[in-house]
Amino acid sequence: MKRYILLAAIIIVNLSAIFSNNLLHNNYLRKGISLNGKWNYIVDMYETGYYNYRWQPHDGSPNPGAGAFYTNTKPKNKMDLVEYDFDASPTLLVPGDWNSQKEKLFYYEGTLWYKKSFDLPNYNASKRYYLHFGAVNYRADVYVNGKKLGTHKGGFTPFNFEMTDVLKAKDNFVILRVDNKRAADEVPTLNTDWWNYGGITRNVTIYELSPTFIEDYSLQLDENNSKLISGYVQLNGNNKANSKVTISIPELNLQKEFITKSDGSIAIAIPLKKYTAWSDTDPKLYTVNLHTNEDNVTDKIGFRQIETRGSDILLNGKTVFLKGICIHEENVMRGGRAHSMEDARMLLNWAKELGCNFVRLAHYPHNEHMVRLADEMGLLLWEEIPVYWTIQWGNPETYKKAEQQLSEVIHRDKNRASVIIWSMANETPMSDERLAFLSKLVNTTRKLDKVRLISAALEDHGKESDNNIMVVEDPFADMVDILSFNQYYGWYGGDIDNIKNIRWEIDIDKPVIISEFGAGALQGYHADNMTRWSEEFQELLYEETLPTLAKIPQLSGITPWILADFRSPRRMLIPYQDGWNRKGLISETGNRKKAFFTLQKFYSELENK
Ligand code: GCU
Repeated sequence: MKRYILLAAIIIVNLSAIFSNNLLHNNYLRKGISLNGKWNYIVDMYETGYYNYRWQPHDGSPNPGAGAFYTNTKPKNKMDLVEYDFDASPTLLVPGDWNSQKEKLFYYEGTLWYKKSFDLPNYNASKRYYLHFGAVNYRADVYVNGKKLGTHKGGFTPFNFEMTDVLKAKDNFVILRVDNKRAADEVPTLNTDWWNYGGITRNVTIYELSPTFIEDYSLQLDENNSKLISGYVQLNGNNKANSKVTISIPELNLQKEFITKSDGSIAIAIPLKKYTAWSDTDPKLYTVNLHTNEDNVTDKIGFRQIETRGSDILLNGKTVFLKGICIHEENVMRGGRAHSMEDARMLLNWAKELGCNFVRLAHYPHNEHMVRLADEMGLLLWEEIPVYWTIQWGNPETYKKAEQQLSEVIHRDKNRASVIIWSMANETPMSDERLAFLSKLVNTTRKLDKVRLISAALEDHGKESDNNIMVVEDPFADMVDILSFNQYYGWYGGDIDNIKNIRWEIDIDKPVIISEFGAGALQGYHADNMTRWSEEFQELLYEETLPTLAKIPQLSGITPWILADFRSPRRMLIPYQDGWNRKGLISETGNRKKAFFTLQKFYSELENK
């Protein structure tokens, strides 16, 4: 037991170095004050609200002047010149991207200001107040009552700021400057095959916290001992040292007390006797209570082990085949960013209808409803950061952005049984700088989370000597636990009627996941199966590809591209695409294409093997 406590203590030292942004863990199940709803907005293409006419930022200047939008200045009299008025401006719904809410914002990439006024009827000056965002794409500058709380970059991960010192009981206002312009040195970079939806795309919530509260914790089955819960708890506040933390799991009749160290942290080790392991076939979640004399937090945690042995993936010691599908975070029926529990239910129910036990959340962290619902439904998850295509591998600032997003998603989801794979990247071009960049991300992931597997979507290619033999020659394959790659034989190169003759030469003793294959089809367009864009062509590609992949000895999973059609600025072919990537198995009208049933049949036959 001592070894585990020491090991956990070492982990904490490392984690605090990376998790130093005081990001609340498990805000999801805390009672909060929602700021969702209508927010006034001002489109600010020329950043007038942020820079003066000499292009100097108002932000941070001792007297920013009325022109700084975040001051929300009102004219003092009829003579006064103030050239903006949030309260007279139109509104957007939060959460939600702006592109799908307003026709004139459909293609907008730039700065847009949001403002929300609020009172706190139960304001308590002895409490601490945090303002939490599920995600904002891409950069957010956050101000409350004219004071800057901070800036966050990254379009798909949560962040929060403490606002205790600037808050009042009445007449508060929060203002955000949101900028979704793409840039070469950002993550993702300029070039993606998805719509750059901008805005406050997920929930905004105020959390009222005790002076010393439970900021973070990890409680997972130990990777070396399935009869031990190990992890840590981290308190935040003046009384964080030498505080009693009681952890209980009522259903297991378990309760244990711990005393925090001087830094407010404590290593946790709780022996387990009898319990039901979480799995895709029995997604058992336990209510876990954490209690201190100032704070109570409840979570729902599934205890399970995931590991590889040779080319097998083992869930709780038993080999599992990952019958998957890729999903973008988009409500295809509405055409905007998915953000609600209803959106999550629609998408994951479609995956279940296909017969999936696995989902690849492409190409960036999805909202927390998806992960929490997957925990309940017994869907295993692949989570990914948007290190996508041509990232600036040699730029240390770009690396920091990737590592920040990685640490934020691991921080949020480290207690979710459904999450089994962290993906470092998608289809990145090989180079020494890229290998160094990705290897550093692997090392950080292994520090932050010892109980999940690491992969990345690599690429294959035909052998010079024989184009019917496909190979994956990528040095990064040595760094990952699972070898995954995207292959599009029959769509991007190769003849669809030759698929049956190809095979993969993979001499690596690791599990293999085919992280993408697919073809575009306009739902309702029917022709012979050699006609590209027809449902029959897409159906034939699935009929030919699935049995060919099944011949790969190490095959442990597939996630075809993709569950539903999705918006992309790269796909403009009229009449088939018209701004949509058509590789979905479900169209924007919710109709299943013929290939949907091909995949469904393949999975059901796998099931019965
Ligand atoms: C790539 C990429 C996807 C893209 C897909 C396509 O493999 O990973 O993001 O949408 O292929 O070309 O449709």
